[in-house]
Amino acid sequence: MKIIVKENDIEGGAAAFKIFEKGIKNGAKVLGLATGSTPVTLYQNWVKSDLNCDNLTSINLDEYVGLKPDNPQSYHYFMQKHLFDKKPFKKSYVPDGLEAAKDPQAAADHYNQIIKDNPIDIQLLGIGRNGHIAFNEPGSSFDTVTREVKLTDNTIKANSRFFDNIDEVPKSAICMGIANIMSAKKVVLMAFGKNKAHAIKEMIEGPVTEQVPASILQKHLDVVVIIDKAAASEL
Ligand code: GLP
Repeated sequence: MKIIVKENDIEGGAAAFKIFEKGIKNGAKVLGLATGSTPVTLYQNWVKSDLNCDNLTSINLDEYVGLKPDNPQSYHYFMQKHLFDKKPFKKSYVPDGLEAAKDPQAAADHYNQIIKDNPIDIQLLGIGRNGHIAFNEPGSSFDTVTREVKLTDNTIKANSRFFDNIDEVPKSAICMGIANIMSAKKVVLMAFGKNKAHAIKEMIEGPVTEQVPASILQKHLDVVVIIDKAAASEL
């Protein structure tokens, strides 16, 4: 793993953008994208840039089950607002939360086929405080592909800050699996703030274990980790 420590999320976002920009100039066509507060500074750099996205395909990691794309808490909405409204891609895929509510297996199979048909060149990731990636919570098998996952109480609590109250947070998500993520040619993981420091330490220095889903990245051949000093403070 290559570890880049920056002063803060602003510098981290700029560094992450440079990696994507270089990758795209070198021929990357399919990008795995992520939501959450962490990638916001990356997307800010992206929309300010003159990068042409007309030939790019994006595949997002996850979506809440049951949320419509126009629900402001949905990850569809997040992506439109932070990136696609200003930088439209040739094609952008986000798992379908409504299809998943009706038929989770069909929605998951459909998404796995999309990933198979569009192998991911660069996968962006954040990390949860418990070491989750996307919504692959501790205990998820490293063999998983896209499926419906139940959210842990901790994740529901952490993500309730985006909702009016905790009861509105969906209890499950449709989410790319660890095997889908590991199949990407390159992975860029970003994390900022002291509350990510423990997860970052476990991911980089701890044993590779399903109890810390992000630790599997130790086995990927091309991973760049971009963190600020606070997230690096336990290394
Ligand atoms: C959610 C998302 C993850 C994200 C994580 C951290 O659970 N499914 O993809 O990495 O939260 O979010 P944040 O970047 O807001 O700290």
